[in-house]
Amino acid sequence: MTNEIVLTSEAIQEAVQSIANKLNAKFKKQTSIPVFIGVLKGAMPFFHDLVKKCKFEMKLDYIQVSSYSGTSTTGVIHLLKDVSEDINGKDVFIVEDIIDTGLTLSYLKQYLKVKYNPKSITLISLIDKKPLRKVDLTVDYSGVSMVDNKFLCGYGLDYKEMARNTDYIFVPTKKQLAQWDKLLEDKKD
Ligand code: IMP
Ligand code: MG
Repeated sequence: MTNEIVLTSEAIQEAVQSIANKLNAKFKKQTSIPVFIGVLKGAMPFFHDLVKKCKFEMKLDYIQVSSYSGTSTTGVIHLLKDVSEDINGKDVFIVEDIIDTGLTLSYLKQYLKVKYNPKSITLISLIDKKPLRKVDLTVDYSGVSMVDNKFLCGYGLDYKEMARNTDYIFVPTKKQLAQWDKLLEDKKD
């Protein structure tokens, strides 16, 4: 069985453009400089495509958390890298690849709010995967809604750090996952 493509490169770019259009309209009369924060590592392809389509001034920053282990979330979130910009009093936009349980984005929102007291925090996610939502969290801008609980790879989304580097998003087959496991095993020798 071949991997099922869920979002082609064209479909992704359309979704990214549609979010950028809304942001461009919001910042048409720009009075402040927002800080866009990409969540490492998964959001990187989306983050960089999105900011290139945004036609207003902004600052870029990065934050890193981890919660996933293989194909499921552990529910425990670790902060691996903090922001480096001064975001106190600023309009902050957190850019994520996918929202699943909602734990990561709600943790990040709370963390940044308590530690840095920004003026506002807006949440952007390319994919909104709804079935496993555990916290009541509203994503302000999302590209694509998913009603199925499928494990996705590609365009930043990984399985054990593999498969981030495609320009499309797919559901890996069991065979594909086993092949990656084997490659990772072989590397240990
Ligand atoms: P949440 O905390 O459960 O909302 O999960 C968010 C994080 O889990 C995302 O930033 C992704 O890194 C990861 N994640 C969630 N669903 C998937 C998936 O289908 N494939 C790969 N990573 C995922
Ligand atoms: Mg992520």
